[in-house]
Amino acid sequence: MTAPVATNDVRATLDDALATRTRALDTARLKGSFVDDGAFLYLEDFLPPEQTAQLVQAARDLTRVVNRNYLPGHKQGGSVSRHTIDEQAPFIAELYRSPALIRWLESITGDALLPSPDDDPHAYALYYYTRPGDHIGWHYDTSYYDGRRYTLLLGVIEESSCRLDYELHTRTPGAQAVPGSIQYPPGAIVLFDGDKLRHRITPLGADEIRVSLTFEYVTNASMRPWWRFISNMKDAIAYFGFRQVFRRLAGRRPATRNTA
Ligand SMILES: [Fe+2]
Repeated sequence: MTAPVATNDVRATLDDALATRTRALDTARLKGSFVDDGAFLYLEDFLPPEQTAQLVQAARDLTRVVNRNYLPGHKQGGSVSRHTIDEQAPFIAELYRSPALIRWLESITGDALLPSPDDDPHAYALYYYTRPGDHIGWHYDTSYYDGRRYTLLLGVIEESSCRLDYELHTRTPGAQAVPGSIQYPPGAIVLFDGDKLRHRITPLGADEIRVSLTFEYVTNASMRPWWRFISNMKDAIAYFGFRQVFRRLAGRRPATRNTA
């Protein structure tokens, strides 16, 4: 299948919208809040309405290709990896790479950010909560990379009683953990350092639906081979399936990988 490619006009319009939006924010204040909370920021109104509507439409269109997983005691739900998004919803890939978005994230985190390597299925992925009990237990978004890994969650569809429960400062030496709990509506964002925020999504109720988009940015795209193996196995079992993860690895050219 040939991937639909976004035109330069589409790309420029999207980036202009993000640039306008981020210019309107009090970034200095938000950065202060991010630092005070141990590398965590929640913003209820972030993405412009037009882009939010596009995301919602893309998520609904991709429902038919969701990969379901069940790990007893840890997670139950569905996901669509970046590889499928590349083929079927390139708008999301453009949003992920928006220079205006990345510049703003850099000004909040204080780090130079890189997109995740091409073979990382988590770089951008949609997570679907569609059946009663869908959830994910307490965890960190651990970085298997040599540097930091930031997670940006974007609300897409929120017609559920699910909550993102979290604990701030669990990795801040000498600090007390600070619990919190939110629901993030379409267009909202949650930004955090994956190694610092302990979090979970509580179980979905009957006749509910929830879809969340995750972007992952790193400060160093290198990964040691053993961690690459662990990361791939985790992705295959817990998220996207062996076909999605290892088909890509088998087909990749050595020069496209950036591992240590
Ligand atoms: Fe997570």
